[in-house]
Amino acid sequence: MEYPPPPYRIKMVEPIRLLDAQSRLSRMKEAHWNLFNLNAQDIYLDFLTDSGTGAMTQEQWAAMMTGDESYANARSFRRFESAVREFTGLPEVIPTHQGRAAENILLPSVLGEGKYVVSNQSFDTTVGHILFNGKEPMDIVIDEGLDPSTDYPFKGNMNLEKLRGALEGENVALVTLVLTNNAGGGQPVSIENIQRVSEITKEYGIPFFLDIARIVENSYFVQQRELPEMSIRDIVRRTCQLADGVWMSAKKDAYVNIGGFIALKDKEGADRMRERLVLFEGFPSYGGLAGRDLEAIATGLEQVISDERIVEHRIKQVEYLHSKLSEIGVPLVKPPGGHAIFIDAKSMLPHIPPEEFPGQALACQLYIEGGIRSVEIGSLMFGREENGKFVPANMELVRLAIPRRVYEQGHFDYVVAIMKRLLEKKDEIRGMRIVKEPELLRHFTCTLDVIE
Ligand code: F0G
Repeated sequence: MEYPPPPYRIKMVEPIRLLDAQSRLSRMKEAHWNLFNLNAQDIYLDFLTDSGTGAMTQEQWAAMMTGDESYANARSFRRFESAVREFTGLPEVIPTHQGRAAENILLPSVLGEGKYVVSNQSFDTTVGHILFNGKEPMDIVIDEGLDPSTDYPFKGNMNLEKLRGALEGENVALVTLVLTNNAGGGQPVSIENIQRVSEITKEYGIPFFLDIARIVENSYFVQQRELPEMSIRDIVRRTCQLADGVWMSAKKDAYVNIGGFIALKDKEGADRMRERLVLFEGFPSYGGLAGRDLEAIATGLEQVISDERIVEHRIKQVEYLHSKLSEIGVPLVKPPGGHAIFIDAKSMLPHIPPEEFPGQALACQLYIEGGIRSVEIGSLMFGREENGKFVPANMELVRLAIPRRVYEQGHFDYVVAIMKRLLEKKDEIRGMRIVKEPELLRHFTCTLDVIE
């Protein structure tokens, strides 16, 4: 595949450096084999996340200069509110400082009596908030979504039979869909599936919310694979209309470095959330953000649905890296998702069992070999102990999340060259064990060691 020509050029440059091999190894040891502990300046290419790491446009930077920093009902809030209404088609808009802050406001306000929060696959911060609120996550993505090797077009879809089964059991507190399914490989959910989930949840009177962190990418796939006649703008709106409401980490598809929001139909519900907002985030017209941040989000949302080349180029970059890595024989989740490449560490390192975290072992070696930071999405992130027994994650993946508008072809070709070297010595890579871990979201702060 050819590298896609970017619909932008570069006018500000941030230097990066590659440490020598010896320093990379000692930095990894000092970080206790947890990539979150590395200093960013010791990393050459940072694919830890696509969240808040993108480059903004000149229009976004210019809008920030016009931010109105009034405490209540600033002009920037009104502009933000109308941009979110235009984007989602939903009337009630609640700003938050990022996605998990939205989860903290939303979940206690909408959770019903039941025990489970049913989703295609809740992301880790959402899982944390579900558990914190005394509920249990229940992930029921379709079977294709759990098989890295199948090429199904909508691997993020929810299994509707299992949804009905769960709802029949009358033990469901909330239903959500994550668009795209980040934890399952950035795979999209079809409009048809969202529509069916919407109908079924209505039938049972259970609230239904969408995690729309990457809804523009999801809508691009819907346009390519399901609704070629529709604009991305209209697909985004149609999607949001199908739920009671949505929450968004604006750090992804709003193309900003910080921010988030909740948008919903129900005014009463929104007012309940605003009470919590004042307690945890701030006054309802800024929700933990500066006026300038609200301006950047408003412009980002407007731009990404006005110029479809923005998301198209991004997804083609991901496809480019996917095709080059496939060519040299790296086992990847197929087809490429919207925001990231997911390496199937279980099949690349079959000699390392899930309880020795093959994904984490590979991610550490990727840094040592080439100064590249990725993140494990496998048993370190999602594995659990139950009655003293290790319960592995569904898949052992390593994610290379691509920041928006940050890296270009030379960077991606470098990743391919490093992976080629790692493939040659993959049998020497050893498993890992956890030395110390916290109670929740252990992958962020735990320390590990290599098993000798
Ligand atoms: N939902 C999804 C689907 C996410 O991917 C994230 C964050 C959140 C919610 C939470 O949003 O970070 O703004 O508080 N994902 C980042 C990632 C961290 O790297 O995938 P946040």
